[in-house]
Amino acid sequence: MTEPAKTTAPVVEFTIDGKKVSAPRETSLLEVLLEHGYDIPHLCHHWAVEPYGACRLCLVEVKKGRKTKLTTSCNYPVLEGIEVTTLNEKIFKNRRNMMELILARAPNSEKVKQMAAERFDLVAEDLPYEANYDGDDCILCGLCVRVCREVVGVEALSFASRGAEKEATPPFHDIAKSCIGCGACVYVCPTDCIGYSQTTTQRELKRWNRKLPMRICSRCGYPYAPIFQLNAFKDKTGTPPEFFEWCPDCRPAPKAPKPKAG
Ligand code: FES
Repeated sequence: MTEPAKTTAPVVEFTIDGKKVSAPRETSLLEVLLEHGYDIPHLCHHWAVEPYGACRLCLVEVKKGRKTKLTTSCNYPVLEGIEVTTLNEKIFKNRRNMMELILARAPNSEKVKQMAAERFDLVAEDLPYEANYDGDDCILCGLCVRVCREVVGVEALSFASRGAEKEATPPFHDIAKSCIGCGACVYVCPTDCIGYSQTTTQRELKRWNRKLPMRICSRCGYPYAPIFQLNAFKDKTGTPPEFFEWCPDCRPAPKAPKPKAG
């Protein structure tokens, strides 16, 4: 994924833990905090997609005028004059409560276990209630759904059902027929619960019941990408099919344009 586009929004000034900072108005507060080196826990945010506010680990306190409130920072747009506090007892306690729920939901996810232990001194065995583990480490952060829709432009996934039944799934719990096998969902998943494998002939995205044949480079024999992914790229860009015969390593480098005379 490429870098975020530069915005032309007017710059606003505000404070973070008493220090003056500036950023383009309406930028995600979490992104500003991370850019300034604040170590804010987060599991459901990626700059390439719209914020969703699902994990609630990125809580901070924001004072605007006379009102102070606890808020998720990923979906809080920065405004002139706000005063941000990144850590105090209340913030830590609320983040820790959220971490307990996430750990109960995904007790086998290495990334979740590591964050819970290192940042909140929590292990699944010591949770104050029984873990509601159903054999699935999905924490419903929605990153897979958002990246598929907003970045890949495919919409192979969506949320289905509500409450305890809610899940990220292909339509009608069927095979994700429109999935092109790009693997973006696997890349962004914070709990590694999608399940991915690849052989010389096939890539499999286990959670979406999707098996995709690989394009073999006709020069070196390397299975370099799923055929569906290359077809989607070809259709979008109008690239001639012969371009995909060779893998990127075997493809000749594009010729540099000739300098203009005079
Ligand atoms: Fe903000 Fe998850 S990163 S709610």
